Amino acid sequence: MDPQPPSRKRIAVIPGDGIGQEVIPQALKVLRASGANVELNEFDWGADRYLRDGMTVPPDGFAMLARDFDAIFAGAFGDPRVPTNIHAKEILLGMRFKMDLYANVRPVHLLDAALCPLKGIEPKDVDFVVIRENTEGVYTDAGGVFKQGTADEIAIQEDINTRKGVERIIRYAFDYCEQHTRLDGSRRVLMCDKSNAMTHAGGLWQRVFKEVSGEFPQIAAQHMYVDALCLQMVRDPRPFDVIVTNNMFGDIITDLAAGLQGGLGMAASGNIHPGKTSMFEPVHGSAPPIAGKNVANPFGAILTAAMMLRHLGLMHEAEKIEAAVLEALRQKKTTQDIDGSLGTREVGDWVAGRVSHS
Ligand code: NAI
Ligand code: MG
Repeated sequence: MDPQPPSRKRIAVIPGDGIGQEVIPQALKVLRASGANVELNEFDWGADRYLRDGMTVPPDGFAMLARDFDAIFAGAFGDPRVPTNIHAKEILLGMRFKMDLYANVRPVHLLDAALCPLKGIEPKDVDFVVIRENTEGVYTDAGGVFKQGTADEIAIQEDINTRKGVERIIRYAFDYCEQHTRLDGSRRVLMCDKSNAMTHAGGLWQRVFKEVSGEFPQIAAQHMYVDALCLQMVRDPRPFDVIVTNNMFGDIITDLAAGLQGGLGMAASGNIHPGKTSMFEPVHGSAPPIAGKNVANPFGAILTAAMMLRHLGLMHEAEKIEAAVLEALRQKKTTQDIDGSLGTREVGDWVAGRVSHS
């Protein structure tokens, strides 16, 4: 009997706003060129749609995504014409929170030594991942303002940390570490917090980390305060392997980490709940100042597409895409932000051409 044909993966594509609308089409071009067996369905959720008819997410939107798709591929959300950013909150944080995509996985790989602002650092020296808690913390918008606009105004922003939420993200980090051994064979999970000052939430993270790490004796468990970690990241990023942290610290340290890779235009991410429909997006936002000018770097989006394919089990196609990006860097077929001279579309064309001939 013939083997079963591999099943076609269904992907929901939401380019969103600003440069999301420029980089996502390039990534899709590359995805198609890879020959990956995927079906792409595009959705126009974003600022334009919101300004047109007030819709952010249709009533059944998140249930539809979870039911009908194997993965979601998103661009960026944020538009100066919507100062409240309400659509971004409902679409992006909606997917993360309502679909319970609790693990924000942000790999940090330096692909070319010239991209790193640190002296004497080579690609093998920057090879770690940040696992950011994605559904709790200060991003739940719990809190309130009292006596607004008066001299007595009080603003409270609450930091929500649940036992369940903390445990599952720490466990995810250890599982991830077990499945992804680094080239040098080291296995380390480092938890980053500010438990010296934020003692209540930090205490919970500390206790859970100790418990869960006990189940993984083969993995070294380490800890750093977030401020010390920032210093270490720019002084010497070599010791990092898997870093696990809360929502806000994860947000901040991954911009810093993106700096080690050549900037926001290079960074990929996944919003994952194992076994559920997960969402993949470049780390950068909609970058209004450069939107519509064909200058945005599409590599973050293209590498995110590869990350999504890996997640879907399409390893061969993912590898082809990653190899083509490496080659583009080597031949300087790149955008201005990383010292190239090509436009967004031209970089996409070059990478797609390379992928289709590989
Ligand atoms: P941003 O990531 O959009 O851009 C910051 C700066 O980094 C840009 O002005 C640009 O100079 C550079 N940059 C970012 N991506 C680039 C790329 N692909 N190629 C070349 N240069 C790039 O962050 P910002 O300015 O803080 O936010 C702009 C808007 O995006 C806001 O509305 C914000 O809320 C939203 N945002 C959305 C995110 C998302 O959808 N996941 C994430 C971060 C911000
Ligand atoms: Mg951020």
